[in-house]
Amino acid sequence: MSPERRAVLSSVVGSEADIFARYGGVVPEIASRAHTEAISRLTREALTRAGVGREEVDAIAVTDRPGLIGALLVGVNFAKSLAYAWHKPLIPVDHIAGHIAACTLSSPDLEPPFFAFVASGGHCELMLCESFTSSRTVGRTRDDAIGECFDKAARVIGLPYPGGREMDRLASRGDPNAIRFPSAAIAGVGEDGLPTLDFSFSGLKTAALNFAHTKAQRGESFSREDFAASFTAAILRSVHRRLIECHDRFAFKALVVGGGVAANSHLRKMFLEFGRERGVRVYLPEARFCGDNAAMIGAQGYFDYLAGHTAPLSLNPRARRE
Ligand code: KG4
Ligand code: ZN
Repeated sequence: MSPERRAVLSSVVGSEADIFARYGGVVPEIASRAHTEAISRLTREALTRAGVGREEVDAIAVTDRPGLIGALLVGVNFAKSLAYAWHKPLIPVDHIAGHIAACTLSSPDLEPPFFAFVASGGHCELMLCESFTSSRTVGRTRDDAIGECFDKAARVIGLPYPGGREMDRLASRGDPNAIRFPSAAIAGVGEDGLPTLDFSFSGLKTAALNFAHTKAQRGESFSREDFAASFTAAILRSVHRRLIECHDRFAFKALVVGGGVAANSHLRKMFLEFGRERGVRVYLPEARFCGDNAAMIGAQGYFDYLAGHTAPLSLNPRARRE
């Protein structure tokens, strides 16, 4: 299939945000049960909207790693049943690679090699990508992911889960210099003996929570806009610093951004500025393809299919990437 012939015929995304807003976060077992209830209906809806029957389907792509194991089991078992019943090849897709492939949906001209930054509710990775199916992680978070930090910081100022998007909106109206939160770009030496490119977001998260709790204990009020803007500024500083270091070290010509956090308007601006500063071409996914969605898994599934990466019906998902 040539790049021009690749298209998203339908994109249906089921959201469990309303359920988890009640709990203030994802409850794994409830997520799996919600997946079980929704998966047949969503698949049927996607096929109907696309106007595609089973005979036109070439293969079934499914996320098999990394993620919440219960939710992955629901998706993998459903895809296996479909592949079995329809006699189609089964393609196991890496969730993180899917976030990267999301950029190809709006930029079909995107070609490896490139550097990738993926940030979601569970991951934060800096990767050198030789092709769409081979990459090397050169930096990652050692604890919390950025999305998780945004959600926890949002929660402490009374925003419903997931609060990342609302933090983004509030930050636009606040002063980024009002509160000085710590950077997440840690010091130290990596396994290769060079300065590490890893992050640690737990200090930043704790600082934000402590700030809000201390204010509450003292009965003092503070601007939620300034809090959101200052928190976002700390993330921007940390990610920007790492991008500069990575560019100094790897001299990449293209940067691909992905993951739910790639929807953040302030980060998007920073990535584009970085691109201008360093002469790097920056690819950002469309907002609707930033958060988890099946279109990005289909996009990556296409590259995996071309590379011959199919799986037997004994496929078992993995919570971790390696
Ligand atoms: O990739 P994703 O949909 O799911 C995971 O794989 O985790 O990412 C979800 C994360 C959530 O933490 C959510 O708050 C965050 O992405 N997010 C944002 C924004 N939109 C979604 N974080 C910051 N700014 C946003 N605009
Ligand atoms: Zn994701």
